[in-house]
Amino acid sequence: MRWVACILRCSMLLMLLGLASILANASPIKNDFGHCERVVKKWAFSSLDQEVKEDRHTLQDLLFFLHVPRTGGRTYFHCFLKKLYSKSLECPRSYDKLRFDPRKPKCRLLVTHDDYSMMSKLPNHRTSVVTILRNPVDRVFSTYEFSVEVAARFLVHPNLTSATQMAGRLRAKMRGVSTLDIWPWKYLVPWMREDLFARRDARRQKGSDDTKSSGSYDMNEIFMPLHEYINTPMAHDIVHNGATFQVAGLTNNSYLAESHEVRHCVQKYKILGEHVLQVAKKRLDNMLYVGLTEEHKESATMFANVVGAQVISQRRASAMSLENVANENSEQNSLLSDSEFENDYDLDDFVHSTSQVYLLVLQNRTLCCQILSLKMMTTRIAVLTTMQVRLLPLKMVKQRNKI
Ligand SMILES: *[C@@H]1O[C@H](CO)[C@@H](O)[C@H](O)[C@H]1NC(C)=O
Ligand SMILES: *[C@@H]1O[C@H](CO)[C@@H](O)[C@H](O)[C@H]1NC(C)=O
Ligand SMILES: *[C@@H]1O[C@H](CO)[C@@H](O)[C@H](O)[C@H]1NC(C)=O
Repeated sequence: MRWVACILRCSMLLMLLGLASILANASPIKNDFGHCERVVKKWAFSSLDQEVKEDRHTLQDLLFFLHVPRTGGRTYFHCFLKKLYSKSLECPRSYDKLRFDPRKPKCRLLVTHDDYSMMSKLPNHRTSVVTILRNPVDRVFSTYEFSVEVAARFLVHPNLTSATQMAGRLRAKMRGVSTLDIWPWKYLVPWMREDLFARRDARRQKGSDDTKSSGSYDMNEIFMPLHEYINTPMAHDIVHNGATFQVAGLTNNSYLAESHEVRHCVQKYKILGEHVLQVAKKRLDNMLYVGLTEEHKESATMFANVVGAQVISQRRASAMSLENVANENSEQNSLLSDSEFENDYDLDDFVHSTSQVYLLVLQNRTLCCQILSLKMMTTRIAVLTTMQVRLLPLKMVKQRNKI
């Protein structure tokens, strides 16, 4: 009896195994495109459905700055947004989803590298989105350069172990947000750092520091050449179509559970990318403001006139209404006692300062309010390579100015 039972059980098991392998091998291959198409279309349909904005040109309570990496967004943040919003109005810096805390009740400004899926955490109809876009090719160059540049800072250390340990200690000490906490740099920089050290070790083992160069983007012995970088799975995952995925909310940092399947499907079947593009375009249409890195002057001016003007009048209106409330109810006073309305900006002042920043950006690129242009970065990389990537970038800039 036992023997029969075993045969039965074993054959059942075999059958199940066989079935499983058929399912795993045959059917997905056959139906994968159909499945992907359904997944992507369903996502696109529900995404477009949420995009009904009537008053998209009116600034809402919360301003969400969707910061696409390497578009010059830092300039907007430091030079413009920080002037418009006082510290107390800034939502906790969210450059990584773990840090996001939407509970800070009074926050009015959110700046982050997170993608559009962040909107699922925000009150949709009370949020205005702004962003800056850049020519995708330039953005990819810049991403590559920045990855190398930040990783190269660690080469002051004798070896990778000590570099990694030091970075860990610094981050524990620092209270601000480090580049290494920020998506996508938290993946790209450690990866490049490991690669830089490996190449340096190889050079040392060879016992020669002579390097043959065929241009800044192909310094094989010192750092990963551009063509190699952009063909890695990491770059495919994070860098390719980065801005589109960010606006679509489909980056690998997305909050949406289904986004990862959608992204994989689109990467596999490029034709499905059309749906992503439609969603991204629709979202851009509905944003309060979209700047272009290449058209910096026009973009900055438009930012002052569209976003700046509305922030200023919104702040004034809310200051006035709160004053009224405060007069009626003295208990409310404690809520107003912080520096919320310290920045009493005049629109003319603001427009003036935006154009000044624009000029400063052109004249003095070492300022905090800088737009790093591709051209400048190329020089930097060239300097970096001639110095065998031993010095800190800051020192390199000084060196460059001397030359
Ligand atoms: C790395 O450098 C540190 C500091 O000089 C040294 O103490 C350590 O032994 C080195 N580790 C390796 C694996 O070479
Ligand atoms: C995002 O990409 C990085 C680098 O390829 C990878 O390490 C990480 O696991 C990815 N995250 C998700 C959710 O896919
Ligand atoms: C650029 O700005 C920095 C900081 O304000 C200043 O120290 C430096 O002299 C300026 N450089 C030029 C070329 O104006």
